[in-house]
This record gives sequence, structure tokens and C-alpha cells, in this order.
Amino acid sequence: MKRIGFVGWRGMVGSVLMERMRAEDDFRDIDPVFFSTSQAGQPGPDVGREVPPLQDAHDIDALAGMDAIVTTQGGDYTGAVYERLRAAGWQGHWIDAASTLRMAEDSIIVLDPVNHDVITRALAQGTRTFVGGNCTVSLMLMAIGGLFHHNLVEWISPMTYQAASGSGAQHMRELLKQMGYLESAARELLDDPAGAILDIDRRVTEALRSDDYPDEQFGVPLAGSLIPWIDKAMDSGQSKEEWKAGVESNKILGRQDNPVPIDGICVRVGAMRSHAQALTIKLRRDVPLDELHGMLAEANQWVEVVPNEPAPSQQRLTPAAVSGTLQVPVGRLRKLAMGPEYLSAFTVGDQLLWGAAEPLRRTLRLLLA
Ligand code: HSE
Repeated sequence: MKRIGFVGWRGMVGSVLMERMRAEDDFRDIDPVFFSTSQAGQPGPDVGREVPPLQDAHDIDALAGMDAIVTTQGGDYTGAVYERLRAAGWQGHWIDAASTLRMAEDSIIVLDPVNHDVITRALAQGTRTFVGGNCTVSLMLMAIGGLFHHNLVEWISPMTYQAASGSGAQHMRELLKQMGYLESAARELLDDPAGAILDIDRRVTEALRSDDYPDEQFGVPLAGSLIPWIDKAMDSGQSKEEWKAGVESNKILGRQDNPVPIDGICVRVGAMRSHAQALTIKLRRDVPLDELHGMLAEANQWVEVVPNEPAPSQQRLTPAAVSGTLQVPVGRLRKLAMGPEYLSAFTVGDQLLWGAAEPLRRTLRLLLA
């Protein structure tokens, strides 16, 4: 059985990965070894079978004993360990959630329901570095992979509504604290059925601007507001999150030589763990909507086409409906007033599942096959 090392399994993405691997009985087919950056020597986690004590995640010799390493520890760890491990002659497979190695020439961005062919070709050619994509990118391609498959996309402008989880666990906690802070600022007026709404709103606005509003993580209010910038600034005027949409999508699709322009604005909103995005898609030709529905629905078993009607859109096309599931609904499909080649779409997906953990566990399965 292959020896597989896990690093960062206690963090948020790592915990989701462990849950999914237990649910799919993935540990049955491997010899798992758990690494820790701080607790080497302590007992390993309960994964339904005996595991050795935790190994030191910076011990290159111990890491080099693995056939594959799956890391959800983050970019700093990848930066500290990966090159040293390769320099020591390690030939194993490295499967990583962090963005550090995504655009490296010898890495593949993995999203097998969309780029199974790219992954299997890379495996046959001896590629050994596999990286999960940015969450919004992976979720967009899960939703509209069918349009790419039929080579119908001339360009896309995605406008995102990204959940707090994309910033990390502490940010999710802070979002809830912010919500509670706003509610408590207005509670006594809310409890009074005759409380005037403009008085309530004044209290909330004061609370949003108060020095006591809890914003240590985000730096600014998210609950009761939004944040129209995610990640660092690029020279192009894009945020790094916006830049990733184009470069990562084209790398996943294996079309870096003939890229489809994909560019829009990324916005953080007060959802917990599901990212949504509104897409304006320029098609290469006018295709009837019912044919587009069919192409989208057939692309993979998780995408769900939602009718462009009020009730299904409000009930099924939301973070509240999708969080904790692998479904990727896509709806609000209609031709825009600009012309019959302009398609709108709205899609939502769990940022921790298809956006992070799921492509990694599926890549591990592909390696073992
Ligand atoms: N960068 C993403 C976000 C999450 O901030 O929402 C990870 O892909």
C-alpha cells in the first residue's frame, strides 16, 4: 500500500478533507502518515485505522519516505519545504491546496471533472506536482465546464460574491461577531414593533463606524457591508484574486497558448462558506438556451441547472442552500439585451468542498488507480 503523508489536516480545509476521506472510505486504500508542525510524537488522528504517531512536518527525511504528500498547511509551509524535499531527490507526488506552486511550469492545477484529460496526460508524462485551484475559479469551471467543452466561450466577466471562509476560520468567526454586534446595537428598537426603521438604521450605521465594531481580521466591516477587494494589488489594477480567474482557468483547461479572456471584480460578502458569482459570458455563436441548458447539465454529475424563475432561484441558487454539499447549481441563464451571443449566469458552490478539499482527495484517488 502506498504511504501517504498528510500535513495541515487539522486546519479548516484539512478538516474538510479528512471528513470527505472518511466519508468515502479513502483511508482503506492507503497507509496514512500524519505530520505536524508542532506536535510530533503525539498520537495521530482517528481515521478508522491504526496510524503511527505524528511525524515532524519539517523533517525532510521523514517526508521523503512518503509516496505522496497531501498538504493543506498553506503557502508558507510549501515555500519552506517543497524545494528542499525535491532537492533531496524526492520523486513522490506532491498534492497541495496552496497557491504557491499553481503557476509553476511543472505543476498541474487539478479539477478532474473539468480537466481529467489534462491530469492523466500529465501523469503519463511524469508530472509529480498537483495543486488545487483558486476556489472561485474551480467553482466557476464546475458550473460552466460544459460551455468550454463545446468551445463556446469567447470571454467571461465574473463578478463574485465571496464568503468569509475564503479568508480563513478566524474571519468566519469575526463575521458572526460583527452580525451580533449590529443586532445588539439596535435590539431595543427592534424589540419595539413601533421602533422607527430610520432610527434602527442610524444605530446600525453608528455601530458600523464605531471603534468597538469587531474588525481585527477583516480590518473593515463585512456584516452590514461588503469589501470590494480581495488579496494583493497587481500592477494591472486587478486584485490578485481577479488575476487568478484568467490565468488559472486557462491553465486548468490546458489552453495557455490560446487563452480565453476571463476578468471581472471580486467582492467579499457576508456569506459563511459558499462563494457565488454572476457571469457575463460572450458566446462564440448564438446557441438556443435549451441547448445551452443541456450542455451545462451534462458536463458533470454535480452541476444543476436551475430554471430562470423566481422561486427556484431564491431557494436553490444561494449559499444557504448549497453550503456543506457538493452540488454546484447554475441558473439565471438568459440572453442579455446586448445580443443573442451574450449569456448571463449565476452560480454558487461550497468554497471548502469543490473550492478546496474535493479536488485534492480525487487527485489522490487518481494517483492510486
Ligand atoms: N482566495 C479565496 C478567497 C479563497 O479569498 O475567497 C481560496 O481560494
